Amino acid sequence: MNLIFLGPPGAGKGTHAQLLMNELGIPQISTGDMLRQAMKAGTEMGLAAKRYIEAGELVPDEVVIGIVKDRLQAEDCKNGYILDGFPRTVPQAEALAQFAKIDVALNIDLADEVIIKRLSGRRVCLKCGATYHISTLNGREDCAACGEKLVQRKDDSPETVQNRLTVYAAQTAPLIDYYEKKGILRTVHCAPSATVDENYAQVRETLGLK
Ligand code: AP5
Repeated sequence: MNLIFLGPPGAGKGTHAQLLMNELGIPQISTGDMLRQAMKAGTEMGLAAKRYIEAGELVPDEVVIGIVKDRLQAEDCKNGYILDGFPRTVPQAEALAQFAKIDVALNIDLADEVIIKRLSGRRVCLKCGATYHISTLNGREDCAACGEKLVQRKDDSPETVQNRLTVYAAQTAPLIDYYEKKGILRTVHCAPSATVDENYAQVRETLGLK
């Protein structure tokens, strides 16, 4: 199954994509993680992306289209993949349609006020990409999966989150209509108090997994 996870920043795309990756054995391809890894490694692309990411703006289409196109050639994508955070603009979606056949675009929907709370407590592992929330870490500061020290993303500051939500509404939300018209959109509405397990059960049900 070739999937797109759509949704505003902090809706839970990464969290649920990782659970699904482990269950289905298909890769989670997060353009955000790839860009952050390039920033950490100090590559030319990473340095170019840094100022956009830290301001909560989108990285130029041609940069992300190129990295996704290359990544989808890899052997581990042969049986399916989860695109997490790509496409994010209509031109990215149109480019993707030239080199991939998508089965489902899953839209994860969550209210803005919950997003702001979740992102202020998010901690991430820059080594393996695992995501946590301080409410479930019990004071732990390292990654349960690989032992790396967890960090707060620079773009999770309240002002930058607000800009990311504005950018999402202007540039990414139009993809909901785009995929609806293609007949492959499915939406999961997440209640503010729902746990990760409850939201993941909704994701599984929406995808028709037994
Ligand atoms: P990216 O890394 O993709 O960020 P994003 O889309 O803004 O999404 P997030 O990673 O912030 O949130 P998420 O939906 O994955 O939520 P998560 O599961 O972590 O992109 C970052 C930047 O890179 C962009 O701003 C842009 O600059 C650039 N970029 C990336 N792709 C691009 C593209 N295609 N084009 C151009 N630029 C691009 O969950 C959030 C928190 O909530 C976590 O702490 C989690 O533990 C917690 N949580 C999740 N579910 C629940 C629940 N049910 N209950 C309680 N807590 C929960």
